[in-house]
Amino acid sequence: MIILSGSSSSKLSAALAQQTGATYGEIEQKRFPDNEVYLRVRSELDGKTVVVVSNTYPDERLVETLMLCDAVSEFDYSSFVLVVPYYGYARQDKKFKPGEPVSARALARALEIYPDRLITVDIHADSILGWFESAQAFNVSASEEIARKLKEIGVDFVISPDQGRIFTANRIGELTGLPSDYLVKERIDGSTVRMEPKELDVRDKRVAIVDDIISTGGTIVNAAEELKRLGASRVIAACTHGLFASNALDRLSACCDLVISSDTLENPTTAFSVAPAVAREIERTA
Ligand code: R5P
Repeated sequence: MIILSGSSSSKLSAALAQQTGATYGEIEQKRFPDNEVYLRVRSELDGKTVVVVSNTYPDERLVETLMLCDAVSEFDYSSFVLVVPYYGYARQDKKFKPGEPVSARALARALEIYPDRLITVDIHADSILGWFESAQAFNVSASEEIARKLKEIGVDFVISPDQGRIFTANRIGELTGLPSDYLVKERIDGSTVRMEPKELDVRDKRVAIVDDIISTGGTIVNAAEELKRLGASRVIAACTHGLFASNALDRLSACCDLVISSDTLENPTTAFSVAPAVAREIERTA
């Protein structure tokens, strides 16, 4: 097995190579004078299981991922697995207004022609996997990895910032042996949310808010403020995908005691790897 890494996934790819015993492929990459992506796979892929680890976020990574996939398609590989650690545009998984695209489906249609299998992590909506027809698509949960990290940090309570992802908080609660619950979130617009007041027994407790994505930070900021209002002694924000749009990290550091995220998107808060979960899925679906 050989792993080829997109330019934003080198830490995860290295961890995955270590987990699986795969070799690490060599890619030459530069920019054309007009800034378009040039890349060339320098390793031999014939007869091998090829694992490309590459994101679709931000937009230029999507172009790079397509170029990498196309380069791989020129080889006589034995099987091709595309790992998209963070599947971008997943929150536009339906038309909210007439005339809009179903962006998550557009990505599925563009990506599915290349690999035999696509593996992604904590995709925002599982239904997106149904749009893959010519490739099999799988989602893995980072809950075990988040739970391991939270045990190490030390927390007393796990909370989902909205009802939509209560299953994640419950799963992490099960894995850590901690109580779990949810807050009630109302989204006003893309960057404004409000938490409904809720009575929770978090006084003097270390509470971990767990979410799939942190983007503007609005969800976590509001949840953290509500938890502090209820008397939580420490608030830890843990997510799989740390996008941290504009000044999100500054806003979060003002109300959270700690912010952690995985290596699906490398950033200053990356504190754990999803490589074990991805390695298990590569093996399970082989
Ligand atoms: C929403 O359904 C997601 O699970 C996240 O809570 C959301 O995407 C976070 O976005 P933001 O950080 O902008 O509030």
